[in-house]
Amino acid sequence: MKKQILTLILSVLPTFAYAAGGGVHLDSAPIDTSDMESVKRGAKHFIDYCFSCHEAGYMRYNRIARDTGMTDAELREELIFTTNEKGEPTKVGSLMKVAMTEDYARNVFGTAVPDLTLTARARGADWVYTYLRTFYMDPYRPTGNNNLVFPDVGMPNVLSSLQGVQRAVYKTETRQGVEVETVDRLELAQAGSMTAEEFDVFVTDLTNFMVYLAEPVQNERKSLGIKVLIFLVIFFVLAYMLKKEYWKDVH
Ligand code: HEC
Repeated sequence: MKKQILTLILSVLPTFAYAAGGGVHLDSAPIDTSDMESVKRGAKHFIDYCFSCHEAGYMRYNRIARDTGMTDAELREELIFTTNEKGEPTKVGSLMKVAMTEDYARNVFGTAVPDLTLTARARGADWVYTYLRTFYMDPYRPTGNNNLVFPDVGMPNVLSSLQGVQRAVYKTETRQGVEVETVDRLELAQAGSMTAEEFDVFVTDLTNFMVYLAEPVQNERKSLGIKVLIFLVIFFVLAYMLKKEYWKDVH
C-alpha cells in the first residue's frame, strides 16, 4: 500500500513542476471566461498578430461567431481574411488552419510552430499571460530576443510594436557555491504604441480567447455543474424526508 501511495505521489509531482513553469514566477491572468466581449477582442488580436504562424486547427470560425454573438457578415469582416487553395474566400464553417508548412517553419524558426488550440489548457492561463509579456532583448539569440518563462524560445517578439522592447536587469546569485547570473526583472528599453496598462488589457483579452479556445463549452459546463449540484441538494433533502417517512414505524 505504502509503495502504491508513493508511486501515485511521484507520478503527480512532475505535473506540478511543469505547471510552475520551471520555477519562474507566473503573473496571475486577470481573465473572465464569461466575458464574451473580451473573448471577441482576443479573437481579433489572435487573427491580427498570431494566426500568420499559429493555427487553431481544432476550432471552426463560426463556432467563435456563435459563442460571441457575431453574424456571418461580421465574421467575414473581422476574422476571415484567408482564401482556400482555389483562391476562394475561406468558408465560415472551416477549421482555423494556416498555410505554413512544417518544413518552412523549421527552416525559418528552427522548430515547428505549435497549434494553439489547446495550449492554454496544457500550459495554464497564467503561463500564457506571463509568456506573452516577458519577451526581452538577448543578442545571443537568432531572433534577438529571449523569454522569461520559455528560455531560448524560437518565437520572435511579435508584440514589440505594442509593448515596446524590454531589457533584462541581471543579478548575481550563489547557487551551491557557484556564482550565476539570473534575470532580476525586466524594464522597458524602448516604448511601444501602448502603455503598460493598455498592453496588459490586450494580453488579458488574448489569453481569455486562448482559454476559451481550449474549452469552448466551459461556461456551459460550469453553469450546468451548479444546476446539477442544486438538484443533488434538493434530491438529498427529498430522499432524506422519504427515508424518515418509511422508517418512522420501524423500531
Ligand atoms: C512569426 C511567427 C509567429 C508568430 C506571429 C507568433 N508565434 Fe508563437 N510561436 C512561434 C514559434 C516558432 C514557436 C515555437 C517556439 C519554440 O518551440 O521554441 C511559438 C510558440 C508559442 C507558444 C508556446 C507554445 C508551447 O506550448 O510551447 C505560445 C503560447 C505562442 N507561441 C503564442 C503566440 C501568440 C499568442 C501569438 C500572437 C500574439 C504568437 N504566438 C505569434 C512563432 C510565432
